[in-house]
Amino acid sequence: MAKLAICGGKPIREKPYPSWPIFDEREEKILIEILRSGKWGRINGKKNEEFENKFANYHSAKYGITCVNGTVALELSLRALGIGAGDEVIVPPYTFIATASSVLMVGAKPIFVDIDPKTYNIDPNKIESAITSKTKAIIPVHIGGCPANMDKILEIAKKYSLKVLEDAAQAHGAEWRGRKVGALGDMGIFSFQSSKNINAGEGGIILTNNEELAERAWSLMNVGRSKKGEWYMHYILSGNYRMTEFQAGILLAQMERIEELMRKREENARYLTENLKKIEGIEVLNPDEGVTRHAYHLYIFKYKSSHFKGLPKMEFVKAMNAEGIPLKPGYTLPLYRIPAIADNLKDDRYKDLYLPETERACREEGVWLSQNVLLGTKEDMDDIILAIKKIQENVDEILERLEVKK
Ligand SMILES: Cc1ncc(COP(=O)(O)O)c(C=O)c1O
Repeated sequence: MAKLAICGGKPIREKPYPSWPIFDEREEKILIEILRSGKWGRINGKKNEEFENKFANYHSAKYGITCVNGTVALELSLRALGIGAGDEVIVPPYTFIATASSVLMVGAKPIFVDIDPKTYNIDPNKIESAITSKTKAIIPVHIGGCPANMDKILEIAKKYSLKVLEDAAQAHGAEWRGRKVGALGDMGIFSFQSSKNINAGEGGIILTNNEELAERAWSLMNVGRSKKGEWYMHYILSGNYRMTEFQAGILLAQMERIEELMRKREENARYLTENLKKIEGIEVLNPDEGVTRHAYHLYIFKYKSSHFKGLPKMEFVKAMNAEGIPLKPGYTLPLYRIPAIADNLKDDRYKDLYLPETERACREEGVWLSQNVLLGTKEDMDDIILAIKKIQENVDEILERLEVKK
């Protein structure tokens, strides 16, 4: 009789992990209020402005500009920074497509720099060798909510006069040396898409401490208008990227829960780290010492197949899922291999691009638990540990099954 659920055995658990999103009467109340007010768009209401101020304040930024999503927030920021055709922008390849596609969308070229295998963030020691006379900016991504090494990135940016645009789409509330991310560089963006730690289904925000950049981003978000100009006067060419008042309302309510949920995720992440470390064949990531708060949008850890008799990562993920653990394989290809990016990189430098740490993270080692899993109980975390050990002890069952299938 098989033990592993994927081979017909009894799963470790059948109970689901906490669902997402979380909402209560606070979201209901504000949505009804907005509905009844008839002020559904930012051109008549005040909720977007209220949220911009609240979110920017929370992240110690002077200015916040909401927009339709994080992807657009990146594009508008790049445009506000004056980046376009002929420019190069340094990005990591272990991230969501928008980090690099936004660069292509404004006509510039993404230059990929490998990740640090200890953190899965861009390796700051590899940035300088990627800088050319065309380099205009660096987009560090705080992957999974873990801040990239901002000391080194800001130092390099200063040395070469580059702009820094933080992709903090996954890092609401994260801190680098006690300062919240998002406005540590010139600009920063966050996403409020459904899976994010605070969300409105869709949505995004740009943060900056620079008044001129804030004005430009606001104008780009609002069809090229100026705050001081007449309604039908458009000064720069842009689209309508305004977020609705309903979204801003939900986000205002979600902000009230951010700290409480962050503490819960941190507590469970600590417990998981302590216990995962004890399993041979599992490695936890090791954030830079400057990381004072991890937002845990994702709990990422490394799977070492050599300790599971060579069982490939995808088979391990499937076996975990069968045991009732919603483990995810995460990004399975470096961005420079994703067709939408690769087909637009017509440059000799990309022909044989192979960044070993990103390749390993994507294909062999990186696996994720999403933030809602970290909102469970200690027993819910124990089931993750139990499932890994169960698979490790009975891995022959899967290997035999795979052999038969061949
Ligand atoms: C790292 C990163 N950058 C950018 C984005 C884009 O955000 P959105 O989905 O709101 O367009 C996301 C979100 O999925 C992300 O995870």
